Amino acid sequence: MKITQAEFMISAVRPDQYPVDALPEIALAGRSNVGKSSLINKLMMRKNLARTSSQPGKTQQLNYYRVNDMIYLVDFPGYGYAKVSKKQREQFGQMIETYLRTREPLKLQLLVIDVRHAPSTDDKLMYDWLKHFGIPTCIVCTKADKVPRSKWEKHIKLIKTELGAEPSDPVVLFSSETGGGREELWNIIMEAIAQ
Ligand code: GTP
Ligand code: MG
Repeated sequence: MKITQAEFMISAVRPDQYPVDALPEIALAGRSNVGKSSLINKLMMRKNLARTSSQPGKTQQLNYYRVNDMIYLVDFPGYGYAKVSKKQREQFGQMIETYLRTREPLKLQLLVIDVRHAPSTDDKLMYDWLKHFGIPTCIVCTKADKVPRSKWEKHIKLIKTELGAEPSDPVVLFSSETGGGREELWNIIMEAIAQ
């Protein structure tokens, strides 16, 4: 995918702050520090447009990035970060639930999982939620550069099994370090917005 335009649009916490131009949206959910913001940067071919950090818990709103005047990539706050207060965790949960329940332009949810680890309880809950709301889901196994190629298959299989993923859910192995999986993921995104 050739990127001709990429910009940060808005941080939203409530539906009245979501963009109103009805471009299709692709949202990213996953544990804190799994690499969601890095993945967005790699998709957009921008080094630092989405804020990344080795400290978890940096993304706290729904951050909208507009790409090629064609779609929005929506970065969610990560879940499962222990240092976030209980109140804030509940607010994140509500914010994300409202978005998933009501957001008509949402065409595809990327569930981002570290390829090195089995899915967490929160990952499984998120996956079940997405299925409950009937949202098309793509599982993105990231940080592929941290696992030897010979073990990729085994890790992916474990992640799919543990999540209880449907065979029809696409799974992409991704690395924000090498760019591996980028074109494949863009193809899945383009297919999803054409539906
Ligand atoms: P929150 O905003 O806290 O939810 O985190 P996030 O999921 O947006 O993670 P972020 O993109 O900020 O990345 C977290 C850390 O992982 C950073 O230090 C990144 O450089 C690193 N990282 C992300 N993706 C990859 C990857 O594919 N490979 C490697 N080796 N490191 C990665
Ligand atoms: Mg982030």
